[in-house]
Amino acid sequence: MQSYQEMSKEELYKVKEGLEKEYAKYKGMGLSLNMARGKPAATQLDLAMPMLDVLNSSSKLIAEDGTDCRNYGELKGIPEARKLIADMVGSTPDHVFVYGNSSLNVMYDTVSRSFTHGVMGSTPWCKLDKVKFLCPVPGYDRHFGVTEFFGVEMVNVPMTSEGPDMDMVERLVSSDDSIKGIWCVPKYSNPQGITYSDETVRRMAALKPAAEDFRIYWDNAYVIHHLYEDEQDSLLDIISECEKAGNPDMVYEFCSTSKVSFPGSGIAAIVTSKANLDFIEKQFTMQTIGHDKINQLRHVRYFKNIDGINAHMMKQAAIMRPKFEMVEKTLQDELGGLGIGSWISPKGGYFICFNTLPGCAKSVVAKAKEAGVVMTPAGAPFPYGKDPEDSVIRIAPSFPTMEELETATKIFVLCVKLASVEKLLAE
Ligand SMILES: Cc1ncc(COP(=O)(O)O)c(C=O)c1O
Repeated sequence: MQSYQEMSKEELYKVKEGLEKEYAKYKGMGLSLNMARGKPAATQLDLAMPMLDVLNSSSKLIAEDGTDCRNYGELKGIPEARKLIADMVGSTPDHVFVYGNSSLNVMYDTVSRSFTHGVMGSTPWCKLDKVKFLCPVPGYDRHFGVTEFFGVEMVNVPMTSEGPDMDMVERLVSSDDSIKGIWCVPKYSNPQGITYSDETVRRMAALKPAAEDFRIYWDNAYVIHHLYEDEQDSLLDIISECEKAGNPDMVYEFCSTSKVSFPGSGIAAIVTSKANLDFIEKQFTMQTIGHDKINQLRHVRYFKNIDGINAHMMKQAAIMRPKFEMVEKTLQDELGGLGIGSWISPKGGYFICFNTLPGCAKSVVAKAKEAGVVMTPAGAPFPYGKDPEDSVIRIAPSFPTMEELETATKIFVLCVKLASVEKLLAE
């Protein structure tokens, strides 16, 4: 197959003509498709419906330590929920504080409290001239949204196939005490599906920050979201790695069951050192008298244990996998060898990350929209929505039906071709 770069202008014009005809055909179809939403499909949610039947008015809502889940109390969560979360992330229950329904909310809250009250006795960030966060890119837009909301200066750190560029992270963190945090999605990262290597985790745990209140914001959102039963990435437990490295308090790990049970109605948690937990608990008593323990109990009674969760996730994978594979096959069949795009085939998570030729991402997304396919806005996976290369597009295959996804992917590859030809002709 001849790559677009090898073609003469005449050849490119000819290709363009054919692509434009095809594009006009799709535009005339009045489609309304969406590959932007990183949400489970309704069929995935259906799998968890029996969870709603495990508790009813005759259920005994007593936790294993005797706590009456109908009443106030147990700020850190009921023991069996703490155990379930600990098993999910590969830690121990004494490190776990179960919150409400959203891990993003826990992250926001953690940043917010650091601004107003500081971290374990250090100066509240609101009193500092400058607060910076390292942001491995591409990353999760809502992380960057939280820090932007608080006026934090965000510093891009490039991702490699093993996680963030650790040479850069080490250099910056050890030399600049205004750097207070780093956003990480260490497993099946959003949007690239990359899992941090053991070396990356160990180097992360061994950081020597200039700021005493520097914390790693370890958002393990996709820790059990495998697409395959036999090929699964594994990730070291950051909590014990930090302990081994003599930095037990340097990490906050976040997780939830949002994309396990029901997004918005799951349980979320922070997993961290005892000292951090004690500090958080002290402040937290001002914020709430306890979270929804009935929902915690519902989750534990339904899944029973980590094996129950893993079995459930394999049922979800059976729905997600064909969609991912179809998208990847279409990318390969239609774009392989053309030299106009690259992508990573993830083993889990929710996204496929596509790289266009530099300067083409916005154009591809705009063209797709005109043809009736909504993609995540180009630039979204970067702080301030600015992709310096204008080349990253996040594809979210989970939510549409297979049929919708097939059409949307065909339109997407067509838009990639068209935008690339236009770029090459303009050079
Ligand atoms: C990396 C990451 N973290 C957190 C969340 C949101 O999690 P929650 O529903 O627990 O707030 C998402 C949702 O897409 C995500 O991709």
